[in-house]
Amino acid sequence: MNQPAPLPPSITVDTVWLPKQNSTLAESIDFGWDVVMVVSIMFFVLLMAMMIYFLVRYHRRSEFDVTSDRDHNARLEWAWTLIPLAICVGLFFVGFKGFLYAAVPPAESYEIHVQAQKWSWTFTYPNGVVTNELTVPAGRPVKMIMSSTDVLHSFYIPEFRVKRDVIPGLYTAVWFQAIEPAESTLFCTEYCGGGGDGQQGSGHSAMWTRVHVLSDSDFDKWMQSQEDDPNAPPAEKGKKLFVTRGCAGCHSVDGARGNGPTLKGVFGKTEQMSTGEAVPVDENYLHESILQSQKRLVAGFGGIMPAFEGQLSEKEVTYLVEYIKTLK
Ligand code: CUA
Repeated sequence: MNQPAPLPPSITVDTVWLPKQNSTLAESIDFGWDVVMVVSIMFFVLLMAMMIYFLVRYHRRSEFDVTSDRDHNARLEWAWTLIPLAICVGLFFVGFKGFLYAAVPPAESYEIHVQAQKWSWTFTYPNGVVTNELTVPAGRPVKMIMSSTDVLHSFYIPEFRVKRDVIPGLYTAVWFQAIEPAESTLFCTEYCGGGGDGQQGSGHSAMWTRVHVLSDSDFDKWMQSQEDDPNAPPAEKGKKLFVTRGCAGCHSVDGARGNGPTLKGVFGKTEQMSTGEAVPVDENYLHESILQSQKRLVAGFGGIMPAFEGQLSEKEVTYLVEYIKTLK
């Protein structure tokens, strides 16, 4: 059995129907939404009321009822053409204003690179720090430069009202300026596949992560705490990579079955491959399984792991292998 996907924390709702606004863009997006909603409800009520009224007023009571010989009314037709046209043009400008604001990131934006892959997010900060949860300063424009290593994903933070596809082989970008320190959730909103071996999987639906909005000074403190300790032992560096590179999304370290086999006690064990071959799990097998993940698959698991060849350095693979060895 696959593990059930962990549930994302619920979204804070403090307005009638939309999540909390926590970006400078949110107000204009919500204004456009509200205007469309009000206009739609007004016309729905108006049209339904008229329909019911006409039904009662003009229904044919007997076969001797006379019908009118009037076939059109030019004034009425102009009115029902021009009024909706004016409303649509008005809606266009309401939307266009927000669109322009969202489309142009300020030149001094803080830039974070985003890499999406099945099924995790990786964030790279200007000083080289890599994380798998997003931490941003409040009150500063932040630009996300995004790409995908495999399939289409979509970057979506409801509280910021930003959403953009993340595409393999192409950079896309979004920017936002968070208003105040808060905890939010980032979702993938493009169906990017399920779990392994044909079961109902947790892949796409589990592809969410935390967004921490910190005050400027807390952000600087947080950044300092993230900077790598060059003297840390390899296994400790590996443990960090294991989380930031998304391994932990599919491989548990406590024996639970995920989209991939658990890594608890895997080192030194003999694994059954899908071909029936029995392979001792040593440094070389782990090295191969990380860089050329499709080469030999553990029986019972689909070939869903991305190959990390070209994405992890030899050093980083060594750190990961050292970490896996400690998972007794
Ligand atoms: Cu990534 Cu859905």
